[in-house]
Amino acid sequence: MFGSFNSDAEFGRREPGMKMQSLLELLERDGILPEEAFVELLSGRSKEDEAYAAKRAREIGDCIYGKQIYIRGLIEFTNYCKNNCYYCGIQRENSHIQRYRLGKEEILLCCEEGYKLGFRTFVLQGGEDPYYTDEKMIDIIKAIRNNFPDCAITLSIGEKSYDSYQRFYEAGADRYLLRHETADVAHYQRLHPKEMSLEHRMDCLRQLKEIGFQTGCGFMVGSPFQTNKELAKDLLFIHSLHPEMVGIGPFIPHKETRFAKEKQGTLEQTLFLLSLIRIMEKNVLLPATTALATIDPRGREKGILAGANVVMPNLSPKAVREKYALYDGKVCTGEEAAECRFCLENRVRSVGYEVVVDRGDYKG
Ligand code: 5AD
Ligand code: FES
Repeated sequence: MFGSFNSDAEFGRREPGMKMQSLLELLERDGILPEEAFVELLSGRSKEDEAYAAKRAREIGDCIYGKQIYIRGLIEFTNYCKNNCYYCGIQRENSHIQRYRLGKEEILLCCEEGYKLGFRTFVLQGGEDPYYTDEKMIDIIKAIRNNFPDCAITLSIGEKSYDSYQRFYEAGADRYLLRHETADVAHYQRLHPKEMSLEHRMDCLRQLKEIGFQTGCGFMVGSPFQTNKELAKDLLFIHSLHPEMVGIGPFIPHKETRFAKEKQGTLEQTLFLLSLIRIMEKNVLLPATTALATIDPRGREKGILAGANVVMPNLSPKAVREKYALYDGKVCTGEEAAECRFCLENRVRSVGYEVVVDRGDYKG
């Protein structure tokens, strides 16, 4: 189904380097490359290689998902967090933000509005907030499940026990997002306080898969101390986990964190990685993230053209949006859900794709 690329007029003299092209072809054929080859791809990419990878990525994505882009309604229901990830604006040590929590009824109102706007997936995302005990979460999940039986429920609430994950699944949650953040132990330790560990994070991801969740891992592009070697390890980890979803976006500094003065990740590198992930994990659900939209006014459109097939606009009440600031300058904090919904529809259409009313499950 994924025949090899025949150069066409569009590229003309802008041929990708032969070496890079054959590495990309190998990646497409085998779904994996040795670590050193990934490093080579990431270090040596030219504009032509980026264009070639994006074209292949899109052809592969189109073959499986057509010209359809899935939308997810993101409900950021708490910005309290017991963790202190060094890069994150809602880390517990940030005393400069106003904390908030949404109750069950407020969450259900978001879903109701989202349903009318055509969303058939709701993503409950929050900091690791002990206020939401398993019982409270299960109550919320069951309520959404009962009120919106044709919708998928995605959780993004961090590291929990196997038993909790199992109970969330039984209550009706379908998917779970837990970015691994980096697949290199030493790098992980430089981004997180010592009470957090990569090993535990990966255990959680494997458990989620085992329980039956459509599971998403992911990482930031251009996070502090990251080199192409770490990125190569991220790609190898993705291959070994074989997740249904992968969330990646550029690292963007937040002013109240120790990484305030660090450089942000680049558009080009993020787009190239989106393409590599699509070529490697052909069926994966791959969002063009808000962080990507934040570093470039057409970031989401460019993400779609690089191989992404999901967008996740915000459904949180306008009053709390600004408070869920993981990084500085986040877009769409002043818009209503409906505004983002229609804005996105136009953006998606502008690059030849179409937003669909669909749960948007993984096509395995
Ligand atoms: N820049 C970009 N992404 C961030 N995240 C957290 N902080 C930042 C930041 N400063 C990402 C993490 C997390 C997800 C919810 O948001 O990867 O898993
Ligand atoms: Fe929010 Fe465009 S997507 S305003």
